[in-house]
Amino acid sequence: MSLTAEQTIEALRAAGEPTRLRILALLAGEELSVMELSRVLDQSQPRVSRHLKLMTDAGLIERFPDGARVFYRVSHDVDARRLTDTVLDLLDDAEGEADHARLDAVRDERATAAAAYFETVAPSWDRIRSLYVSESAVESAIARAAGPGPFDRVVDLGTGSGRMLTLLGSKARMSIGLDLSQNMLNIARANVVKAGLDKVELRHGDIFATRLPNQSADLVLVHQVLHYLVDPAAAVAEAARLVSPGGKLLIVDFAPHDLEQLRDEHQHRRLGFADEEIGRWLAEAGLDASASIALPPDTAGLTVTIWTATRPAIAKRSVA
Ligand SMILES: C[S@@+](CC[C@H](N)C(=O)[O-])C[C@H]1O[C@@H](n2cnc3c(N)ncnc32)[C@H](O)[C@@H]1O
Repeated sequence: MSLTAEQTIEALRAAGEPTRLRILALLAGEELSVMELSRVLDQSQPRVSRHLKLMTDAGLIERFPDGARVFYRVSHDVDARRLTDTVLDLLDDAEGEADHARLDAVRDERATAAAAYFETVAPSWDRIRSLYVSESAVESAIARAAGPGPFDRVVDLGTGSGRMLTLLGSKARMSIGLDLSQNMLNIARANVVKAGLDKVELRHGDIFATRLPNQSADLVLVHQVLHYLVDPAAAVAEAARLVSPGGKLLIVDFAPHDLEQLRDEHQHRRLGFADEEIGRWLAEAGLDASASIALPPDTAGLTVTIWTATRPAIAKRSVA
């Protein structure tokens, strides 16, 4: 389906203003909150919100609330996205350079705060993790979703204290745990030794650029990591890139919630994820997603969701 003339005119009108063009160029790269946009543009939040509303009404961008914050991203409607890309293609790249530099600074600030948090909480991470989830139920469900194995190579992205490796490592011929925090990796190292696992490599690395080969793991895990990240969609794409044909990606994170204090106290950027959002990222990465599994808390706490997706196996050629 294409846009009508009226829709096209409305969308072009909405984009046809300097600040709104800047916003579109920023959102074309990643989802951003009103607060982040207002810092990058150096304009007040109400002013930025007015621009955002106009572009949302015109179908160029989408609004999604996350707890008390509101995030925006470019529309995933194919025609609206094509129109945005066409408009942005015409712009001289130099126009947006200053905005992108300021966005990098805002991202770096966040990433540094999150990294400092993990370096500090590493020794108590196993206790903190259990504050908001009923761990045993979640872990049995993860083990069931992963399947019986054996796996050739398990990759755990944002491995933290290595809990996923000790849970599933005995079913793997070899496993890799990757994390940005050296303190977390030290604790993971001690935990895998304690669990008697010897074919485990712990590597310092970034989930956005793992430097692991394409399609090289038959089980990839991203457990309780996405909600800290500045660009969760990019992390899902990178995780999916590692999944071998017939292999599986397991993403475990919170369902949408409203515990705002987790942002300040525990550096969460997103308050959970909706099925529709994760499902879209998985489909864009070329994986087939299964129905998600929601695990409500026993008493107080948060609902944890497991999203499973597989890379279709390469069809065997029939012999004539
Ligand atoms: C909440 S902990 C979860 C750890 C583990 N998956 C678990 O469930 O126990 C999140 C981990 O992600 C790591 N992390 C955050 N950003 C990362 C990034 N960009 N690349 C790799 N690891 C990252 C943190 O250092 C931390 O160890």
